[in-house]
Amino acid sequence: MNVRSTKQKKHQMKKIILLVLVSILLVNCKTKTENKPTQEIGLIADKAIVVSARVEASKIGVDILKQGGNAFDAMAATQLALAVAYPYAGNIGGGGFMVYRNKDGEIGTLDFREKAPLASTRDMYLDENGDIIEGKSTLGIMAVGVPGSVAGVFETHKKFGSLPIEAIIKPVIELARKGVVVTKKQAKSIKKYQPKFAEANKDSILFSKEWKENDTIKYPALANTLERVLENGVDEFYKGETAQRLVDFIQQNGGIITMEDLAKYEAKWRKPITFEYDDLKVISMSPPSSGGIALAQIMNGIEDFDLRKFGHNSTKTIQIITEAERRAYADRSHFLGDSDFVNVPIDSLIEKEYTKRRMANFSFDKPTKSSDLAHGNIELIESDETTHYSIIDAFGNAVSVTTTINGAFGSKVYCEDLGFFLNNEMDDFSSKPGTPNVYGLIGAKANEIAPQKRMLSSMTPTIVEKGGNLWMVVGTPGGSTIITSVLQTILNVYEFDFGMQEAINQPRFHHQWLPDDIKMEPNGFDEQVKAELQKIGYTLDESTSPIIGKVEGILVLPNGQLEGGADHRGDDTAVGY
Ligand code: GLY
Repeated sequence: MNVRSTKQKKHQMKKIILLVLVSILLVNCKTKTENKPTQEIGLIADKAIVVSARVEASKIGVDILKQGGNAFDAMAATQLALAVAYPYAGNIGGGGFMVYRNKDGEIGTLDFREKAPLASTRDMYLDENGDIIEGKSTLGIMAVGVPGSVAGVFETHKKFGSLPIEAIIKPVIELARKGVVVTKKQAKSIKKYQPKFAEANKDSILFSKEWKENDTIKYPALANTLERVLENGVDEFYKGETAQRLVDFIQQNGGIITMEDLAKYEAKWRKPITFEYDDLKVISMSPPSSGGIALAQIMNGIEDFDLRKFGHNSTKTIQIITEAERRAYADRSHFLGDSDFVNVPIDSLIEKEYTKRRMANFSFDKPTKSSDLAHGNIELIESDETTHYSIIDAFGNAVSVTTTINGAFGSKVYCEDLGFFLNNEMDDFSSKPGTPNVYGLIGAKANEIAPQKRMLSSMTPTIVEKGGNLWMVVGTPGGSTIITSVLQTILNVYEFDFGMQEAINQPRFHHQWLPDDIKMEPNGFDEQVKAELQKIGYTLDESTSPIIGKVEGILVLPNGQLEGGADHRGDDTAVGY
């Protein structure tokens, strides 16, 4: 044990004892089901917590736990409840990834990412001149990948669930019938995307009317779909009446997904990416997500630096993290894709010595230029709307799930008949490898489109052990910023002694190699630090990222209690008992 880690342990113990004392005082005078946006300490619970983007979904997840269900039952319920309560990103028309660590310490992941339809082709988003057709991979029916979320829910329940599926789906159906109250943020986002709904759908949809804060939206069509899924199981969605109605809808609108596409869909259990950082063991998502590999590379790159000495969000700390991020994202763009289709050199990429060699030319005196790094011409195409939920149950099982329909409300195509939005996940492929897309980003061959392939993701559902014990469950939406938001949340607790909620509250920054700038949340960073970074040669961008990530985390405190942190950047809420 080195001096740094002993000192660090003492600091952390002091902080944690203080946190526990304050929380014991607070827990008696506040409700256990709400996080106020300004609160620095998250929800403290003795046994179990679910943190998600909406209180309705977190409550349904926790109710399942209170009935004796485990974290996997709660995963199934929360995933479905988010499809009702948070149509912006929660879904049954999209996909996602789950990382788990069960009560015995066994770890694994489930990949329920969407797949490219059988009729898809490498150049399907290019015109006759080989140029990208603007909007074709993002808006409308051609953007839709074969959905995986219902398969993910049933596969999780089949392998690990303990309650009957009725107990899980019925409350979600009730929620859909009863309806969900529109929040201020939701009213704003529905209004913002209404012109796109009009473009993507032939007729007006449920979200075409003016919804105001405190209105209640009821989802009878979705309730009916879930009723049939409850009655007939997973095949209802992939082979049954619902599948047929979905395919009819897609094809009537000019899409290419067939009954065969749905029938062939399967969620896959995959080996997680694991690596060590000091005395932490980080467990995260493997390809087709880039999240685990990139997180490993960044943490390997900064491990030798004493961030604690440099200070939280100080000039030097931002430099170190930025340069590790720059190198990891350059590699990510070149090497990563669906490992069922391309050879991803996982072991080499996450090997510590490899990243340390990549950091050898790091200097505090000047930035590395992204154009001077290998693979300097490649970047991936992603958007930033997704959602995450974290769960720890009373038995000690932990589940970390990030799920998405990609863009806000996915492709904006809403199937009125079945009651849900369809994803636009096809945009996560590189539409034209080696050439800038409409956003000026450049794609990679490893992530080019092929039938049945899964598009590369940044989703980084993560679980962290400390000293061999469960310590943190964490994740976030945010497209390419997902990885760096998860990173900063872990570092904020581990290196800088913040509690879970405090760590989430801190302003975040992001570098992804190209464009060669540091994106920063506005008004969060010290003016002097910003001036110093600019003087050294960094370009700062505070205009394009008002929000970086919406992190949901649960921290296991030394006394065994849990602290749930929910991001006040959204309507996110921790519920526990
Ligand atoms: N669609 C966002 C991601 O998968 O990273």
